[in-house]
Amino acid sequence: ALKDNTIIVVLGASGDLAKKKTFPALFGLFRQGFLPRDVKIVGYARTKMDKAEYHKRATSYLKNPNDDPEITQAIEQFKALSTYVSGSYDEGEAFAALNAHLEEIESHYASKEANRVFYFALPPSVFVPVAKNLKEQCYVTTGINRVIVEKPFGKDLDSARELLSSLKQYWTEDETFRIDHYLGKEMVKNLLVLRFANIATGAAWDKNYISNVQITFKEPFGTEGRGGYFDEFGMIRDVLQNHLLQVLSILTMERPVSFSAEDIRDEKVKVLRSIPPITKEDTLLGQYVAANGKPGYLDDDTVPPNSICPTFAATTLWIHNPRWEGVPFILKAGKALNEAKVEVRIQYKDVTQGIFKDIARNELVIRIQPSEAVYLKMNAKTPGLYTRAMPTEMDLTYKRRFTEAKIPEAYEALILDALKGDHSNFVRHDELDVAWKIFTPILHWIDGKNGARPRPVPYPYGSRGPKELDGFIQKYGFKRANDS
Ligand code: BG6
Repeated sequence: ALKDNTIIVVLGASGDLAKKKTFPALFGLFRQGFLPRDVKIVGYARTKMDKAEYHKRATSYLKNPNDDPEITQAIEQFKALSTYVSGSYDEGEAFAALNAHLEEIESHYASKEANRVFYFALPPSVFVPVAKNLKEQCYVTTGINRVIVEKPFGKDLDSARELLSSLKQYWTEDETFRIDHYLGKEMVKNLLVLRFANIATGAAWDKNYISNVQITFKEPFGTEGRGGYFDEFGMIRDVLQNHLLQVLSILTMERPVSFSAEDIRDEKVKVLRSIPPITKEDTLLGQYVAANGKPGYLDDDTVPPNSICPTFAATTLWIHNPRWEGVPFILKAGKALNEAKVEVRIQYKDVTQGIFKDIARNELVIRIQPSEAVYLKMNAKTPGLYTRAMPTEMDLTYKRRFTEAKIPEAYEALILDALKGDHSNFVRHDELDVAWKIFTPILHWIDGKNGARPRPVPYPYGSRGPKELDGFIQKYGFKRANDS
């Protein structure tokens, strides 16, 4: 349940994540009446700003395109509960001053209970000092204390373990909420329902019926000024190791005993532990080059010259358990492609040959974004006085079927869960550990830790990806409908 008398402290309040994601999500929750009663929002960052300047920044991404007076009023109310403190990230006194500010706010609460939720919109280099200073200076004994943190959690298994154990000195697992914002997306949350509330989907959910699965992430833009961050991490760390692997784990885990956070996460960890590390033979790397008037990755000034960092990666995972043995799970993600799309495509096996042959395979597609949808590609009789099968779709497109529904933003859903203390959609420490185990060898190979670094193949900005991709997915049994 939500706790009255909660202060949400946004650390890194003047940064990009806070402006683009955290504040808009907090505002969305505020407008819909989902924030705790008497909530206060305190920003903290190094930049010295007065209140007016801070309010301008914190609200710069709140949308009100048609100057709707109701939204204008809500923005003013949101400003009224927002204050700001500036200070460094590594000095105890700065956090003592933050604490004094929080105590001042709490002194006006009717009850003695005070709850504090700290949101880290921070670069990973300051995670540990901030965690330490918050624990030492800003920890309350009257109510809950929570921290919300987000990737990057290290760069490989060892560095992630080191980071996690440093943070663990100050904050317990129960107090920690590790965001993977894909877990807050409506269609990712829908996977549990699609799988376990339907006997029809559940029944054909294994190696006997499924030929191959693709989980695809496509973005139509490049790094565009974010090259400094991106080049250090690359496509695998940016998207595959976290977002796509999370989707995979929910898609493939066994049925949890209950909806409780630990039951769900136990099953996710179990299936992830059945996946051996990815091999280079199962990996295809690409980097975009200038095309269609758009710059190549290396043309971005924030990217180091001659970088061979992959901006595209496709890689196949295998799950060694009785349900999935032999089914390839192809994760692929790329920047600067032809469209924005994230989807799961489950391709079933061919029907038994006989009365029908050479007809298209069934596919169940779960489109995570844009335009949330679930559709089943299937064959039906062509209407008319003859019997011929044709491929068609059973289509559940959300904006057509649920015309009134507002699909929540991922960060809104997750911040609300964290305020309620529900860990189901947050990443547990052992999930992170096993995710790094799967990806660390391939990342070390890409980083050149065991010899020459592999060169990504080029693909044009705005294309479907490297030309090698079609051959890559066919190798794992994927059949295009018109291939047959
Ligand atoms: C982030 C990555 O985690 O996810 C970005 O760092 C990526 O590179 C983003 O663009 C994608 O998120 P979404 O919600 O737009 O699919």
